[in-house]
Amino acid sequence: MKKKVYFYTIYERIWHWLQAGCVLTLLFTGFEISFFSRFDIIDFKTAVSVHNIVGMILVVNAFLALFYNLAGGLLKRYVPELEDFSPLGFTHAGYYFYGIFRGDPHPFDKTPEKRLLPLQKITYFIILNGLLPLMTLTGLLKWSMKITPVYAEMFGGLSVLGPIHRFGAWLFLAFLIVHVYMTTTGHTPFSSLVSMITGYEYIENNEPLEILDEKKT
Ligand code: HEM
Repeated sequence: MKKKVYFYTIYERIWHWLQAGCVLTLLFTGFEISFFSRFDIIDFKTAVSVHNIVGMILVVNAFLALFYNLAGGLLKRYVPELEDFSPLGFTHAGYYFYGIFRGDPHPFDKTPEKRLLPLQKITYFIILNGLLPLMTLTGLLKWSMKITPVYAEMFGGLSVLGPIHRFGAWLFLAFLIVHVYMTTTGHTPFSSLVSMITGYEYIENNEPLEILDEKKT
């Protein structure tokens, strides 16, 4: 029997989808800006304006989420512990590389309290605390060139910032592909997606029925 469990608050879902929308728009407009001679869906000037505005929205969204998690004492769930690398990370990776193809059961139970599994914790930690700030910083420095080149030149100028920003964009794209694939490895291919939209997920109920009945009363 499955039970319906509340996983994501409305704010967490808005944060997530706004972030996803921003990243997709940034990748698209960034592609336009980099390859404008070959890839001409929107004009160059519009692409630059949209890229800058959406970049700002992404940063504000990230700071609001940081505040939400700090104020709610929730930040800890995004910080991996040593056991998330080993042994749990290895068990988790083993499942994706091997077990999943043999139809083995998932090695971890996802619960609202422990909704991030070891590899998710590690990946999200790197993306949110490494790649996102790196892209923000290099993007801001590139943008500051319009006002003064002083700050960008402290970091090597456009010839250094440009390739770092572009490489970061490819890493983001790689993350997105893996992330979206991973979301299809839940109980059903769309169960994680539905839970990130509705907030609820149906999970296997391992508790005896009497306990559930007691909880209802
Ligand atoms: C088309 C784009 C995206 C789709 C379809 C998508 C889908 C999902 C789904 C279904 C979940 C819930 C299951 C899970 O935890 O794996 C999730 C969680 C998450 N996603 Fe995405 N995502 C997208 C883009 C992004 C982007 C761009 C980022 C980061 C920059 C991101 C960061 C996260 C994080 C941190 C969580 C965990 C949230 C939590 O449990 O607190 N996602 N995503």
